[in-house]
Amino acid sequence: MRTIIEPFRVKVVEPIRLTSPEEREAALVEAGYNLFKLHSRDVIIDLLTDSGTSAMSAEQWAAIMRGDESYAGSPSFDRFEESVRDIFGFKHIIPTHQGRAAERILFSTLCHKGHVVPNNTHFDTTRANLEYVGAEAVDIPCAEGHVLAEHHPFKGNMDLEALEALIVRHGAGRIPLVMITITNNSGGGQPVSMANVRAVKAICAKHDIPLYIDACRFAENAWFIRAREPGYSDRSVKSIAQELFALADGCTMSAKKDGLANIGGFLCTNDDVLARQEKDLLILTEGFPTYGGLAGRDLDAIAVGLQEALHEDYLAYRAASTAYLGDHISKAGVPIVQPPGGHAIYVDAATMLPHIPRLEYPAQALSVELYREAGIRTVEIGSVMFARHDPITGAELPAPNELVRLAIPRRAYSQSHIDYVIEAMLEVFERRESIRGFRIVEQAPFLRHFSARFEHC
Ligand code: F0G
Repeated sequence: MRTIIEPFRVKVVEPIRLTSPEEREAALVEAGYNLFKLHSRDVIIDLLTDSGTSAMSAEQWAAIMRGDESYAGSPSFDRFEESVRDIFGFKHIIPTHQGRAAERILFSTLCHKGHVVPNNTHFDTTRANLEYVGAEAVDIPCAEGHVLAEHHPFKGNMDLEALEALIVRHGAGRIPLVMITITNNSGGGQPVSMANVRAVKAICAKHDIPLYIDACRFAENAWFIRAREPGYSDRSVKSIAQELFALADGCTMSAKKDGLANIGGFLCTNDDVLARQEKDLLILTEGFPTYGGLAGRDLDAIAVGLQEALHEDYLAYRAASTAYLGDHISKAGVPIVQPPGGHAIYVDAATMLPHIPRLEYPAQALSVELYREAGIRTVEIGSVMFARHDPITGAELPAPNELVRLAIPRRAYSQSHIDYVIEAMLEVFERRESIRGFRIVEQAPFLRHFSARFEHC
């Protein structure tokens, strides 16, 4: 088979400033070793997130120029609604400025104190928005999802027995919805199978509980279903996405991922009463239901982006480039979450740096080291982000995993950029025993990872 190439060529370039080791050391000190506090002009390859960082296509830029900025009844909304309905199929389509706004509106309408919401794994804003309205967010990933190094085609699946048990324990009346996140971002960017979604739907239907999809990376998930699930290999990716959404009662979506847009999101439902309440709330904080916190031009960019995200040449390249990074570093011994996910590679820093105690933040140490080595910005998903406190002693308890996520922006970097990342990772891996941990010297009472300052131990 021939090399899978980037199925696009470059029309506009964005220069990258190449920094020296001395400049990077100074930037680290100024940022208190917190990569969120770096100026992006000091970053060479930015793998902080795949969200809002996609390169838009010529068709999307053309659509931007077609954008109609009317307050109400804009044709941009009609094009957006038609594109979303074509793929997602839901009755009511409500635009929002990004995914978390859709979450806030859905949960404010449907959930309250005493409610319990299961998900394969909640993304952090999803969890925070549920907790904000007093509901409890419960993660029930399948057993294979817990073992980082294990290969399984659908490690993002929900644990069906745990779902049944949860419903029996709490009673269906306390569970206003069940959510499935595709792909499972916090669980390593792993896909969910159609069989799993269908089985979850059957359980939900038995108990009369609506099923919602957190759809951020729906196109990558549909690609994995086609590649890995029996019976789907000759289906179009779009028809797989349509089949999956037909099993659900609604969804939340961040168009900053598989919408290939720099901003935007939406909330969908088939429930007329709920949609009315959601639109009332939308007007209060987002905007009129035909723009929902977005410019008309953003709606047009999303309308085109959602369809482009389902192009099969694009998805083949996307999956190949993520796997290329994962396979090269793992072959050299770097422990990663297996198999490579759709949008990111997750390095297991606790296994790679066993000499650094969990509460000296091995994943933070590794992500700082990648920046120091080569100006690569990644994100820590470990105890800096997710440590809990002992309810009795108040002592800090480490998170279950210490991961560094290398998220790959869509259509933005070439294979030589990824080769550069591989080289840097392998150089850091070679000298891993000399890497030191950190202590936190300044932190906020919540979401500390965005602003904490660190010192080397
Ligand atoms: N759900 C999932 C699974 C996500 O990954 C994100 C965002 C959201 C919801 C919220 O969407 O950012 O548009 O409000 N994930 C980004 C990330 C921030 O880096 O993984 P948003």
